[in-house]
Amino acid sequence: MTNNPFRIPVVIHADSMALAQVVAARIAEVVRAKPDAVLGLPTGATPIGTYHELIALHKAGLDLSRVRTFNLDEYYPIAPDAPQSYHHFMREQLFQQVNIDPKNIHIPRGDVPRDEVAAHCEAYERAIVEAGGIDFQLLGIGRDGHIGFNEPGSAETSRTRLVVINPITRQDAAGEFGGEANVPREAITMGIGTILVAREIILAALGEKKSSIIARAVLGLRTSDVPASLLQGHPCVTLHLDGDAAADLAG
Ligand code: GLP
Repeated sequence: MTNNPFRIPVVIHADSMALAQVVAARIAEVVRAKPDAVLGLPTGATPIGTYHELIALHKAGLDLSRVRTFNLDEYYPIAPDAPQSYHHFMREQLFQQVNIDPKNIHIPRGDVPRDEVAAHCEAYERAIVEAGGIDFQLLGIGRDGHIGFNEPGSAETSRTRLVVINPITRQDAAGEFGGEANVPREAITMGIGTILVAREIILAALGEKKSSIIARAVLGLRTSDVPASLLQGHPCVTLHLDGDAAADLAG
């Protein structure tokens, strides 16, 4: 269902599995049309089902050997082999189970020395440009409206950089780190500007916890107070929701 009054096109699915199937099928379509497509990839609970479906499509014959990937973000500081790192997440949830060439995988590094972070971020941006830009960007959303780790207040023109993580976001990650105090205070994230130049964007959200921020992103004004609302006006963006995440859009 696409609802015209919304400021971003919205598709509401019966459940998380239906959402995952549709989003994974779209990624497969992108890759079949362009075997060396550049995919922007997120972490979090939301994309796990989509990755699961993508693995199934790969097992059924989808070739990902020429695909290039750029992940949105990584905690800072964190070692790539730490179980909470996004490097670890991506290995477990996707990369180990498909045939993406390791040399085509890019994830910001959480273990570069602080005085090398700025150069690392610039190199990340350059690598995206050299790959030809992101063809398809998948996003989740934080309870405060963040995309990647672009917390409220992030500039529309922002690029890959070191950022401070919001308390609400650190609370949400506390479980994985065995307590909020252990959640890193910073992260390296692609910027809003990096995301907005992707040729196609899908933002996926599941569950009642996301319903109020989804309503602000879709119905509210375009403002950096709600980073996901900055997707309004992108020429090819769609929100994919389950009924719970869409609950506050009704009426
Ligand atoms: C983290 C990530 C975001 C992700 C968000 C939501 O903060 N940096 O990119 O969208 O979590 O995660 P979940 O899908 O688990 O709700």
